[in-house]
Amino acid sequence: MGWLAELPRADDLTPMAWLCTLVRVKRLLRRADVVPSPNIWYFTDTYEVENRAQDADDVIWARLSEQVCWSGADVVDVGCGDGFHLPRFAATARSVVGVEPHEPLVRRAQRRLARYPTVTVRGGTAQRLPLADASADLVHARTAYFFGPGCDPGLREADRVLRPGGALAIVDLDTRHRPYGDWMLADLPHYDPDVVDAFFARQDFTCLRVETRWRFPDREAMAAVLRIEFSARVAERAVAETLKLNAGAEGDELILPVGYRILVRRKPGGLVRSVSPQGRPSTP
Ligand SMILES: C[S@@+](CC[C@H](N)C(=O)[O-])C[C@H]1O[C@@H](n2cnc3c(N)ncnc32)[C@H](O)[C@@H]1O
Repeated sequence: MGWLAELPRADDLTPMAWLCTLVRVKRLLRRADVVPSPNIWYFTDTYEVENRAQDADDVIWARLSEQVCWSGADVVDVGCGDGFHLPRFAATARSVVGVEPHEPLVRRAQRRLARYPTVTVRGGTAQRLPLADASADLVHARTAYFFGPGCDPGLREADRVLRPGGALAIVDLDTRHRPYGDWMLADLPHYDPDVVDAFFARQDFTCLRVETRWRFPDREAMAAVLRIEFSARVAERAVAETLKLNAGAEGDELILPVGYRILVRRKPGGLVRSVSPQGRPSTP
């Protein structure tokens, strides 16, 4: 609870200072809900380069669209960052709401999506979505908040805003996929892929693993991106191994294979299904 140290002592406070302190406490509590994301918070332009490099063959989009449908649907993108993925949903969805706790990213996403009449971007967190009950058909989150044990408040909140039959789809990196997963684990010694997989399986998610290719325009872009993702030591290893993977390739482009998990959980539909005397499910 290091943030408590930021608060003034109670006996120093005038009524006005009390009010200001209350506002600060509220802000700090909200901050405590937020998962630090230094890559996109502090290196937003490099993260844009990363987003453009990711999933060069649209494998994630293809597999995701086989599992959940957003055409004509009301979509929420939780932890939308600066809104990079929102236009893809907006192309066919009825409405899209991007939710993001980091204010500068909210403003940047709002600027990016200004020309899209069906898209709104709001400040908020996965634990407290600024949305009404049963107002969405698809809640999507990409490499945001839903990283494993501890994300239960966000799972409950997604259930609250989903309509019956709606789906929560979480797209995250696959630490079991090499070499990227090895680099992640080198920086996250306490992350246990077995624990994370067991957590999502217990929560009734299906898990589809996909291999994608990140395609960088050149060596500088690749190094810049890997340096915002990893500690200095691991980043230098990742840069060297990526160069080795691309040894002999023609042109400036570099390819890096990266694995993802697509986790999907559906909210039960409105029709109550009962089991017939023959043991087959039937609708009453
Ligand atoms: C790695 S970025 C991914 C951004 C975006 N989904 C993308 O793919 O471009 C993770 C995002 O999650 C946001 N975030 C952090 N804590 C959150 C929370 N509690 N609820 C929702 N989003 C959160 C961060 O501010 C950041 O924008």
